[in-house]
Amino acid sequence: MNTELIYLHDAYLREVTARVVNILEENNQFSAILDKTIFYPQGGGQPSDQGEIIGLSGTLEVNHVSYNNGEPLHKGHLTGTLKIGDEVQLRCNWDLRYTHMQWHTAGHIVDQAVKNVLPDADSIDGNHGIGKKMYIEFATDLSKVDLSKIQEQTDRIVKMSLSISTEMITFDELIKRKIKLPFDLPQNKSLRTVQIGQYPVMPDGGTHLKLTDESQPITITQIIQKDGGWRVVYEVNKMDVKKLLTQVVEELSPISFDSSKQLPNSIELIKSQLKTETGPDLRIKYLGKKGLFNQVSQVLKVLDPRERKEAGQKLNEFKTYLEQEILNKEQSTNAKSTWIDLTAPGIEPKVGHIHPVSQAMEEITHIFEQIGFTRVRYPEVDWDHYVFEALNMPPDHPARDEWETFFMDAPIDQKMGKIVLTTHTSNGQVREMERLNSQPPIRMINMGRCYRRQQDATHTQMFHQFEGLVVDKGINIQHLKGTLDYFAEQFYGPGTKSRIRPFHFQFTEPSFEVDFSCHLCDGTGQVKVDAEVTKCKFCKSGWHEVGGAGMVHPNVLKAGGIDPNIYTGFAFGWGVERTYTLKKGLNIDDIRLLYSGDMRFLEQF
Ligand code: DAH
Repeated sequence: MNTELIYLHDAYLREVTARVVNILEENNQFSAILDKTIFYPQGGGQPSDQGEIIGLSGTLEVNHVSYNNGEPLHKGHLTGTLKIGDEVQLRCNWDLRYTHMQWHTAGHIVDQAVKNVLPDADSIDGNHGIGKKMYIEFATDLSKVDLSKIQEQTDRIVKMSLSISTEMITFDELIKRKIKLPFDLPQNKSLRTVQIGQYPVMPDGGTHLKLTDESQPITITQIIQKDGGWRVVYEVNKMDVKKLLTQVVEELSPISFDSSKQLPNSIELIKSQLKTETGPDLRIKYLGKKGLFNQVSQVLKVLDPRERKEAGQKLNEFKTYLEQEILNKEQSTNAKSTWIDLTAPGIEPKVGHIHPVSQAMEEITHIFEQIGFTRVRYPEVDWDHYVFEALNMPPDHPARDEWETFFMDAPIDQKMGKIVLTTHTSNGQVREMERLNSQPPIRMINMGRCYRRQQDATHTQMFHQFEGLVVDKGINIQHLKGTLDYFAEQFYGPGTKSRIRPFHFQFTEPSFEVDFSCHLCDGTGQVKVDAEVTKCKFCKSGWHEVGGAGMVHPNVLKAGGIDPNIYTGFAFGWGVERTYTLKKGLNIDDIRLLYSGDMRFLEQF
């Protein structure tokens, strides 16, 4: 079955219901063949139409239509599905189509204009918008033809408001009526012809305006010799508002106002301009305070009172027209967006998440809050006193060397010492004692940024730590161990154990290093893959070392104003980044990635 080409007899139809006859696919480009179409397939110098083919379960965004074995192939991008037999709604991009009609009709008008100047001129080809320049090509030498004469004839044909009619006739009829054939035509099917006014009929399959004065102004720009032929190059102009306004005044003026004409020519031009336009601002542009309509209405001021009444009526008609046309356009854009397929699966909105380090901090805070700890924050730029001295590290104590410290370029305080970027969150210990007026119980979890002068694949100059401190009467190592076990199970999962090993810190006595059992191999250090036992690559030993802990040194309690003979305490502290990557079983090659802001990396967490 051949596709019924509706555009051949009705170039103004923008929408129609049709049926899918075939669907082809190549490299994700879909092509639909339909039982009928309003889409113009590229040819005869006229560019292809574009638009949409909307079915119940899919939409084909048509970006090109071309002939294939006499059938228009509607090519484009398919969302959803279209099947053979589906009933579909065709919507052509009307603004584009109407522009193509303007261009094509203009070509025929120019062709006739040239023939009016030079009756023997023999046109052989034309381009009405494919590529850059639009032209009519003649086999006749046009070197002696005056461009302005062609322009004059073009304007005359436009102004005469001649009808442009089309007809389907057989090949034999073409020959019988002595219609000139510009090229070979198929003899076995009926052919389309076009005729401007009473000028000679031409075979033509394009889409055309109904009246010549529906055309926007046509400008002949050049006559050039190319590839053995002569080309008359033309442009179809956009409306020049200023010029148009002077024209309205002239047309509506008492002397030349022709009340027999329905509407002045210039107003027709504005109407045809509106047809080719789209966009959300149309209402403002045409009907707004400073819009075209109000500008045109200024003409009433210069009219004689008798004429004013009649002109006012014309303008009212014009306004009604504009309102209706703009409403139509708005509705058709709305209709596009409200056509929903309720059965289609939804598009999952992209949801962001907080940074992995912040996630870890929230989780750690929550775990400790459950057992009565209070989350606090202390300065990340702090006095040496809190960072070192109060923690039992007097100035020049060698233990300080472990913390590669950044010093601020600031005056030294006699009591507090220098200002440093905190190297650990332990600065919160004495600050918390002071905050509570040296009155235990204290159950603090201090979390924040720390800084050290080291930067490599496993260290960043800025990182995060959390610090726990408990001070009360009768606090002992069992409380510390119990707290670590609780955290291990809560954070890494049931069955995870903690282990403490003797170590040295200035601010605790005794001091420990803290390990957690590896949750990937259940602390065994071995994994079984297909009955083969291998070393756990993540921990190698069954344990991960994470940080330090110990019983608060009496000097630290003293520095916080607490009597070490009455109170005891424990403390612990370690890095958030490491705690987190261990949990996820991550071996991040370069820890700096965490702060790179690279979404490809961060989106994974
Ligand atoms: N502040 C130590 C560091 O940055 C870690 C630490 C060790 C904190 C022992 C403590 C502790 O509270 O008791 O390496």
